[in-house]
Amino acid sequence: MTDRRHVLATAGAVTAALLVAACSDSSPSALRPKGRGADRIAGLWWFLLWVSAAVFAVVVVLLAVALLRRRRTKPEGEGRSLALVIGGGVVVPALVLPVVFVLTARTMAESSDRQRAARMDVEVVGHRWWWEVRYAGGAVTANEIHIPTGEPVRLTLRSVDINHSLWVPELQGKTDLVPGYTNVMWLEARAAGVYRGQCAEFCGVQHAHMAFVVVADPPDRFAAWLDNARRPAASPPDAHLLAGQLAFLRNPCVGCHTIRGTDATATIGPDLTHFASRSSIGAGTIPNNAGNLAGWIENAQEAKPGSLMPPMSLDAADLQAILDYLESLR
Ligand code: CUA
Repeated sequence: MTDRRHVLATAGAVTAALLVAACSDSSPSALRPKGRGADRIAGLWWFLLWVSAAVFAVVVVLLAVALLRRRRTKPEGEGRSLALVIGGGVVVPALVLPVVFVLTARTMAESSDRQRAARMDVEVVGHRWWWEVRYAGGAVTANEIHIPTGEPVRLTLRSVDINHSLWVPELQGKTDLVPGYTNVMWLEARAAGVYRGQCAEFCGVQHAHMAFVVVADPPDRFAAWLDNARRPAASPPDAHLLAGQLAFLRNPCVGCHTIRGTDATATIGPDLTHFASRSSIGAGTIPNNAGNLAGWIENAQEAKPGSLMPPMSLDAADLQAILDYLESLR
C-alpha cells in the first residue's frame, strides 16, 4: 500500500470508530435526551444540522456546476456572477439566519422560564477533582446529585480553585463553575435513573477523573434520600466500629474530611457522613467497595495520580477499623 492510501485507510478506520462510539448506546449522548432541557437542545441541534446540510449541499452542487462549465465554456458576463453573489451571499442568509436566531432565542427563553419554575436549589462546588453537593437543611454529599423526577431543580455553581464545567449530556447543556462567581443552571429528568455527568472544562491532570452521577428518583424516594442525607452519621453501634471512628479522628483523615455528628469538621476533602451510600470513590474513578477503599486510603495516588488525597501509612488494625466504620456510614 502506498503511503497515501495508508493514511486514507487509517483516517477512514478512525472516522468509523468515532461514529460507532458516538452512536453506541453505552455512552451518554446529548442526542438521546432524557429530560426537558436536553430535549430542547437536541431539537435545535437537529434543526441546525439539516439547515446546514441543505446549505452545504446547494453550495457543493453550484461549485460542481461552475467547475464543469468553466472547462467547456469561456467566462461569460458579470451579470450572472453578481446575481449569484447577491442571491447566495445576501438573500439566502437573510432568510435562514433570522429563523435560526428566533428558534435559538425561543429555546433560551423557555430554558430561563423552566429555571424560574424550580422549587428546589442545590449548590454544587467544583474542586480539583471532585464535586461537592449541598442541600438546604445541611445535607452534603460528593460526586452525586440527587434530584426528584419530573420537575426542574436549580443548581447554583461555584468553584474553589479553577474553572470547571458541569455537563450531564442526557439532561442539560454544560455550564461553567468559575472561581469568585456564581453561575446558575437547572436539571430535569423525565424518568428515574442514573445519568452520568462529567467535568467538561480542562482543569488539570485529573480532569478526566472528575465525573459524577445524577440520581433521579420519584419524589417520595428522593424525599426519603434527602431526609437520611440531612441526618448526622449514626453513632457506632458496637466497639469495633467505635474503634474505627476513634481511629479516623486520631489519624490525618480528620484534617481534611467532615463526618457530621463527630469532631471531624474539615472541608478540604469530601464530606463522608453517608459515604457508604455513594457509588464511587474519587469522583467516578473506582467503584465504592471495601477493597478499593483500602487501596485508596493507603495510596490514592495509584488510582488518581495528582489527587489531593495523600498516601496514608496506617497500622493494620486502624486501617481495618476505619474501613469498617466508613463502610457502615449509610
Ligand atoms: Cu474539573 Cu475538568
